[in-house]
Amino acid sequence: MHIMQINEFAVLMEFGSPIMATQGLPPSRMAPLDMLLILLMASCFTFCLSHQNLEFALTNPEESSTKETERKETKAEEELDTEVLEVFHPTHEWQALRPGQAVPAGSHVRLHLQTGAREVKLQNEDKFQNNLKEVKKGKRLDIKSNTYTSQDLKSALAKFKEGAVMESSKEDKARQAEVKRLFRPIEELKKDFDELNVVIETDMQIMVRLINKFNSSTSSLEEKIAALFDLEYYVHQMDNAQDLLSFGGLQVVINGLNGTEPLVKEYAAFVLGAAFSSNPKVQVEAIEGGALQKLLVILATEQPLTVKKKVLFALCSLLRHFPYAQQQFLKLGGLQVLRSLVQKKGMEVLAVRVVTLLYDLVTEKMFAEEEAVLTHDTSPEKLQQYRQVHLLPGLREQGWCEITANLLALPEHNAREKVLQTLDAFLVTCRDHYRQNSQLGRTLASLQAEYQALAALELQDGEDEGYFQELLGSINSLLQELR
Ligand SMILES: *[C@@H]1O[C@H](CO)[C@@H](O)[C@H](O)[C@H]1NC(C)=O
Ligand SMILES: *[C@@H]1O[C@H](CO)[C@@H](O)[C@H](O)[C@H]1NC(C)=O
Repeated sequence: MHIMQINEFAVLMEFGSPIMATQGLPPSRMAPLDMLLILLMASCFTFCLSHQNLEFALTNPEESSTKETERKETKAEEELDTEVLEVFHPTHEWQALRPGQAVPAGSHVRLHLQTGAREVKLQNEDKFQNNLKEVKKGKRLDIKSNTYTSQDLKSALAKFKEGAVMESSKEDKARQAEVKRLFRPIEELKKDFDELNVVIETDMQIMVRLINKFNSSTSSLEEKIAALFDLEYYVHQMDNAQDLLSFGGLQVVINGLNGTEPLVKEYAAFVLGAAFSSNPKVQVEAIEGGALQKLLVILATEQPLTVKKKVLFALCSLLRHFPYAQQQFLKLGGLQVLRSLVQKKGMEVLAVRVVTLLYDLVTEKMFAEEEAVLTHDTSPEKLQQYRQVHLLPGLREQGWCEITANLLALPEHNAREKVLQTLDAFLVTCRDHYRQNSQLGRTLASLQAEYQALAALELQDGEDEGYFQELLGSINSLLQELR
């Protein structure tokens, strides 16, 4: 067994293992500041390997199909339930990572080639304290992605410099030497793999193979699903998702949305959600390829909950940071579709996700306006695009003030947190509705009492900026606004 250490990612390898490997993390899931730090750190290591070299995958043609299927059967269930907002909580022990989970930068990530499992643990307590704090609060790491300031960048650079000083210490030099020793040139590895009859495929070749499998009329349903499942892993990487466009693969997956098999719809949406995420090129192509209509049709028709979950996830990815898609969404009656969805029996669990999506869109537009004022250099075109997204009036007309207010009755703190922030974001348009809603007033009063008690306990424990204190703060300010 050989251990390769690549910057902050440790990759565990076993020769002859059938499972594919690429670089540890899908970059699109990381906040830009974290990315920046990683990039800066990567550039300062002396044993810089070319980025390309890391993107090989290993497959053993004889064994791969059976083993991969096994892996899928055991893991499909839990892996598919990844949520849009999920953030991984690393500890000092290795823990399995599910696809789509966001990982605080600097965590150790390793890929076990035998099982295909990605595992994560904490590297250094201090370094991640801030990230963890965010995670504990249930905050979304990526919501700030559009709003980092030059101050943030400066402090990121400062942190990087501190890191660089530490890097030069003797211990680290020794560590680097050790890593270098273990880290053999990729050519040498390739030779070994050739001898072992292991084929090295590029990500592009793998994606072409998977798309062909999915697109082939001779593939069984199981094979098609397996192909989509694997594809999802690759398209997290921005470049890969764009490569998928280049050979028509994206359209094949989009067309999978109007297939007859619910499972195909579900997994196609799973792939698309990952491919769209923060990837403007792919988002544009998807709109042109009719993805938005197909997603809305699924949400508006009778489908299993699991399908709707994944489709909602894909819709979020498609709309976020893409005002043109948001306009189209409103034109196509997206708000009505979502309203029917959350009011349908058995679909209530989707309500918080839907409301969170609407919150994202409202705040995104607000940030675009603020950014334009602050920096003077946001492209006016982008702002014009956002100005044509008439979301708030639509929300009021379609009854979202009331729907959102009613969701505050949910029992989970996390759901309430999201609903509270949404109520706040909708204030400009919903204030009168809220004031007239006596049920909302009663709910807020009872939550105020509940969180006063919980916040007091937090204070007793010596926590000054606790979660419940924050929730209490939101409730108090909302009550203030509605007075
Ligand atoms: C998918 O299959 C269709 C029909 O078999 C074919 O025309 C098309 O070129 C295929 N697409 C890709 C990207 O392989
Ligand atoms: C889905 O619709 C597209 C046209 O929008 C069509 O070309 C494609 O064949 C359809 N796919 C399936 C599986 O029905």
